[in-house]
Order: sequence, then structure tokens, then C-alpha cells
Amino acid sequence: GNTQMKKIIALALVLVLALSLVACGGNGGNVTTYKVGVAIYQYNDNFMTLYRQEIEAYFKTLETDTVKYNITMVDSKNDMAEQTNQIDTFITQGMDVIILNLVQTSSAEVLIDKVVAADIPLILINREPLGETDESYPGIINNPGVCYVGADARQSGTYQGEIVLALDNKGDINGDGVVKYVMVVGDPENPDAQYRTEFSVKALTDAGLTVKELVKNVGNWDQAKGNEIVDAALAQFGEEIEVVFCNNDGMALGAAAAIEAAGRVVGEDIYLLGVDALTECQEMVKAGTMTGTVLNDHIGQSHAAVDAAVAALKGEALQNYYWVN
Ligand code: GAL
Repeated sequence: GNTQMKKIIALALVLVLALSLVACGGNGGNVTTYKVGVAIYQYNDNFMTLYRQEIEAYFKTLETDTVKYNITMVDSKNDMAEQTNQIDTFITQGMDVIILNLVQTSSAEVLIDKVVAADIPLILINREPLGETDESYPGIINNPGVCYVGADARQSGTYQGEIVLALDNKGDINGDGVVKYVMVVGDPENPDAQYRTEFSVKALTDAGLTVKELVKNVGNWDQAKGNEIVDAALAQFGEEIEVVFCNNDGMALGAAAAIEAAGRVVGEDIYLLGVDALTECQEMVKAGTMTGTVLNDHIGQSHAAVDAAVAALKGEALQNYYWVN
């Protein structure tokens, strides 16, 4: 009795399930599912977290009844060997397109070669491999299936400098005619870091100011490192430091804590600049605990990257470079 009943119910469920499957594939089974592999240099990065979440969210909005995106996203944990394995795995898994945020731009060629040999379109994001002359990396310009999507890092540096120029004292708090600053660098081999470092200061010198660099140190985009660097700089140079430039907001958050711990007051006896415009930092700028931050448009960049991936999936030709500013 009871067992028989259970069997009938079970059978009924199987039928319902089978019918609903038929209903879903009702348009002649015409659903195309694209396999998308995404490797992010490191999940533990404020800006790249916003970026990668938006990649997934935006792919979802592009899905239709007949087109689906099956995204496999991996954390390369800031380890180039790990990322190389992940790309090998993507190739074995037969990804239809790969979006790659390189751990090391110096390894771009090796990975590009692998992906191109497997005939998979490759969208490089956020970390631009540079060629002999800017904007002409051979692996990008010579391979129609490879492109780079990013922002012009020169601009964010220049804007940082312009924020300082807009201050009444133009960063020269003690009025001795020299703007003395600390530079917290993101990552030594990343053009984002190089350009922001160079162009923030260039904006000041182009405006005729005299500057002096007291400390320049690499913080790898990391909050804790930004804290250590600025903490040590304040211990060494104290009141002499007038401006702290950080290549990103993550490090600026660490710097802000070091500044506060040293009893210094942003906006009064020191200035603090970041890049990315993280929500947290926008709040700090409003509250005056940070002097300024520059927008790094994770929405525009992630959408441009996904749009390029979708174009490649449709067999459309890719541009070499997509600039988002
Ligand atoms: C930059 C961003 C940094 C960090 C870095 C990673 O564009 O400003 O916060 O995310 O990319 O490569």
C-alpha cells in the first residue's frame, strides 16, 4: 500500500520533471551556452572585487532564452605559476573565450601564445602589457583574437595632481616653496602604477611647482602595505611630509590609518590622495579625512570587457585596444 503509493508519487515526479525539461528546451533545443573562463590576478583586491562582480552581473543581463553564459571565474592568488595552470585548464576545458587579468604583465607573451594556439579569443583586462612603444604590444596587435581593455592610467595620475593644484596652498603646507611628498606605488611592473606615479607629480611640476620626493615605496595595491609604508615615512620625516600620493584607494586607506595614528590631520597638516573612488573613500573625501580620489570606472571597464568577449563569441572582429575613461 504505502510503498506502492510512494512509487506512484515518485513516478509522477519523474514525469513532471521530464515534461518541464521538454518545456524548457521547447524552442527546438536551441539554447547556446558559451563557456567563459575568467582569471583574476587576486580576489583579495578591493577594486578587482568590484570589477569581477560586475563581470558576472553584466554577463547575466546579456543572457536571453537562447543564449547563456557559463562563467568559470578563478582566483590566481597573485601567483603567476598558479595562473598559468589555470589558463592551461581553461584551454583543456574548451573555453569559448577567456578574460584574463594578468598576475605579471611580463608573462603576457607566454599566456597569449598558449591561448592563441588553442584558437580561443582572449580579452586582457586591467594590467596592460607594454611593447617597445606604448599601445602596441606585439601579442595584441598581431593577433586578431586578442585585445586589451583598460583605462588610461596617465589620466588618473594627472587628476591626482590637479586635486593638489586646486588647493589654496597647492600642497605647500609650510609655505617653503617645495611640495614634499611620499609616493606609495602599486606594483613596479604595472603601467597603471608607473603612469600614476609619474603623472601625479608631473601635473605639479608642469604647473611650475618645485617638488621633493621623500619616500617612494611599493605597496602592491595592498592596504596593510600602504599602512606600513606611510607609518615608516611619518616616523622618519614627520612634519616634513605634506602630500601622500597613493596609486590606489586600498593603500590610501592604510595610509589614512597611519596618518591618524601619528596624530596628523588630513586637510590641515597633510594631504592624502588615492585612485579608484571606492565608496568608502568617497565618504572619506566628503568627511575630509581624505583629500581626493580619482574615479576608476569598474562598471565601464567590466562592461567593455564583456562586450568584447561577446563580440568575439559572435565571430566579430576585435579592436586591439578598448579604452574606457
Ligand atoms: C588598478 C586599481 C588598483 C588595483 C590594480 C590591480 O587599476 O586602481 O586598485 O586593483 O588595478 O591591477
